[in-house]
Amino acid sequence: MLITFEGIDGAGKSTQIKKLAAHLRNQGDTVLTLREPGGTEVAENIRLILLESRHDITPVGELLLFSASRAELVNEVILPALKEGTTVILDRFFDSTTAYQGYGRGIDLPTLSSIIALSTGGLKPDITFYLDILPEEALIRKFSEKSIPLAFDNDELDRMERSGLDFYRKVYEGYGSIMQQEPNRFVSINARQSIQEIHTTIIRTLKEWSPEQHS
Ligand code: ADP
Ligand code: TYD
Repeated sequence: MLITFEGIDGAGKSTQIKKLAAHLRNQGDTVLTLREPGGTEVAENIRLILLESRHDITPVGELLLFSASRAELVNEVILPALKEGTTVILDRFFDSTTAYQGYGRGIDLPTLSSIIALSTGGLKPDITFYLDILPEEALIRKFSEKSIPLAFDNDELDRMERSGLDFYRKVYEGYGSIMQQEPNRFVSINARQSIQEIHTTIIRTLKEWSPEQHS
């Protein structure tokens, strides 16, 4: 089974993934957690270019780098793990590309879909948890996690985070549109609830989820 988490930076994805993985392992499942971009040696190198570099990258260059990282991860790690029956939990997948490079940077959606299809080979999550929180609030969490003042030109921020609030507002609107197109795959959760409340909703949803209903 492939479970993905989506949402604005700081929405609480990694926090929930850790708790979910621990819960599933406790009940005896084999679980692999991964984050995008990254997860193979090549993909981790691409991550450094995308997030840590101080170079400007064009929107198309950015799209192709995220997609190159994804192609490596899908083929080298995710597909073999799924074949063995492992539950794979992914911190971001192609919906992030649609939200950030499509709605955020303005790359046209048909081009984007064909590049996504190429990089994933058509692989889709069984279920996607969307942690819903306004960018203003999510980014405040990021700023306080890094103990830095609220300013988008701060050197402590990664290259994407320095894109500014207007960019994140477009990404947030984008997630709204993406979810409307595939209501069966997405489970939207109010990410302003407590960590435990969100975790409980995720566990309950997975218990009720059945592949037959969603095929
Ligand atoms: P993401 O992976 O989506 O960027 P994180 O899980 O790293 O988000 O969370 C960002 C910050 O917000 C962390 O400091 C985390 O402890 C805090 N956080 C996570 N979930 C919540 C929540 N439900 N309420 C308040 N703070 C949270
Ligand atoms: P990361 O620190 O891993 O995630 P988060 O900030 O949510 O904890 O940063 C990944 C960044 O890359 C994040 O800003 C979202 C962005 N991104 C894209 O723009 N497109 C993509 O396809 C992916 C996977 C991520």
